[in-house]
Amino acid sequence: GAGVDAAITAFAGGGPVLIHDATDREGEVDLVYPAAAVEPDDVARMRNDAGGLVCVALSDTVCRAWELPFTQEIVDHPAGTAHDLGYDERSSFSLTVNHRETFTGITDEDRALTISALGAAAGDIARETQVAGDGAAGAIATDADSFAAQFRAPGHVHLLRGAPNLLEDRKGHTELGLALAAAAGTAPAVVVCEMLDDETGGALSPAAARAYAERNGFPYVEGSDLLAQLG
Ligand code: 5RP
Ligand code: CA
Ligand code: ZN
Repeated sequence: GAGVDAAITAFAGGGPVLIHDATDREGEVDLVYPAAAVEPDDVARMRNDAGGLVCVALSDTVCRAWELPFTQEIVDHPAGTAHDLGYDERSSFSLTVNHRETFTGITDEDRALTISALGAAAGDIARETQVAGDGAAGAIATDADSFAAQFRAPGHVHLLRGAPNLLEDRKGHTELGLALAAAAGTAPAVVVCEMLDDETGGALSPAAARAYAERNGFPYVEGSDLLAQLG
């Protein structure tokens, strides 16, 4: 459909899109960008206009290469035992990270560096996987140690690990965003942030999120439309 096509075009050009998962899931709209394109102004928009948690979703292939675990596998505390979410089988949370060249890690500049560098490095992996065995250049982070040479944990950007078969396995913003990235030909790294309502403190309604999208010239898409076209 036209909405999905507009989202693919915007994403391919580095622009953001708004994605509503489903009324019978979280019922949230996330502001989503291809990570590699993110600049400090985009981080400012996420914290001012969206207001949720700024997270970078990475594909399963990239997370395997960098040996990034699910948080639930590494929390050695009773709080991590039962994984009882009301809206899905499991969360997609992985480590939190900062780029090593950040200072505190939280400023717009610092988070933009962390997010865009994750996007660039994930793009390198995707290209490496496509032309396997061409022994490409030194600075490319292809394993846990080379990831650790660029990023430290803990940090101020939450990583999310995508399900292996994306929308076949899970229908979260993690997978919806990564499926859009795949369709747009951008790196398998997307930054997501929930749109919250400043009046109520709850999730911003789909109608209000759609109006925000229209005011700003950003595409708005329903998860069901992405599933139908890309799933
Ligand atoms: C991180 C979250 C968000 O809901 C985000 O959209 C990723 O999660 P999911 O894939 O479950 O939708 O919890 O702030
Ligand atoms: Ca706000
Ligand atoms: Zn979500």
